[in-house]
Amino acid sequence: MNQSPGFAIVTGASTGIGYELAIECAKNGFDLLIAADEPEINQAADALRTMEVKVDAVQADLATLEGVDQLYARIAGRPVDALLANAGRGLGKGFLDQNFDEVCRVVDTNVTGTIYLIQKVGRDMRARGKGRILITGSIAGFIPGSYQAVYNGTKAFLDSFSFALRSELKESGVTVTCLMPGPTETEFFERAGLMDTEVGQSKKDDPAMVAKVGFDAMMAGKGDVVSGWKNKLQTAVASITPAGVLAEQHRKQTEPGSAGR
Ligand SMILES: NC(=O)c1ccc[n+]([C@@H]2O[C@H](COP(=O)([O-])OP(=O)(O)OC[C@H]3O[C@@H](n4cnc5c(N)ncnc54)[C@H](OP(=O)(O)O)[C@@H]3O)[C@@H](O)[C@H]2O)c1
Repeated sequence: MNQSPGFAIVTGASTGIGYELAIECAKNGFDLLIAADEPEINQAADALRTMEVKVDAVQADLATLEGVDQLYARIAGRPVDALLANAGRGLGKGFLDQNFDEVCRVVDTNVTGTIYLIQKVGRDMRARGKGRILITGSIAGFIPGSYQAVYNGTKAFLDSFSFALRSELKESGVTVTCLMPGPTETEFFERAGLMDTEVGQSKKDDPAMVAKVGFDAMMAGKGDVVSGWKNKLQTAVASITPAGVLAEQHRKQTEPGSAGR
């Protein structure tokens, strides 16, 4: 009988980095449960099924506890070998000019829904003494994000949370890895209303490269990984640069109308 090397959950797997993470899982023989908020998750599932793994898809709003419960229910008691908590969204413009419902959606998706899912699946992994958790943080977590203030704050939360949870679980058989991408060519910038900004128009990393770096780090049980040498350099410089200077540099990238200035 053919035995799958495991069962993985990937959130935000309909597009972008999450879809590529799901492809990495499938290439490595993982059966999949994938989730996203829109019906496109079913097309992603159809594409992944051509890779000869079992794929189950859930359309659920992971910004809500009910949506996370819906995803968790679909696990139906199967042991989860890997949880790739990737769903997330950005939001451009100055904080005072943002719509507060959209602000809440960023926090609820990136932070509340993400850690609620990690707690539920993490408890099962700890009980089994086995599992891998990959959290998609960001190099944005190192930088006060003028004109993306709330988003960068959520990623600072995740980058920090990931290391804290890793430490708590170090004797448990469960590893926690934080993937920290830099600007990556996905739908993220359009959805966040950042297309008129310098970063929105800049050349970005390939999401397949970013996902492979993250998947490999998760499989190796590393604490974190920054994808791409430019981003590695940027995070090294950020760690010794005053926060006020970083915020001013960020502003040049994300200020509305900054594209092509
Ligand atoms: N692109 C970058 O430059 C970059 C850099 C660093 C980190 N990241 C992080 O990478 C992760 C993936 O982003 P991406 O760049 O691949 O963007 P993307 O192409 O916009 O993909 C985002 C994914 O998250 C899902 N999602 C968003 N809100 C959701 C919700 N409430 N419930 C369920 N699913 C939800 C989306 O599904 P629906 O369309 O169905 O909502 C989609 O599958 C995010 O955590 C982002 O913060 C991105």
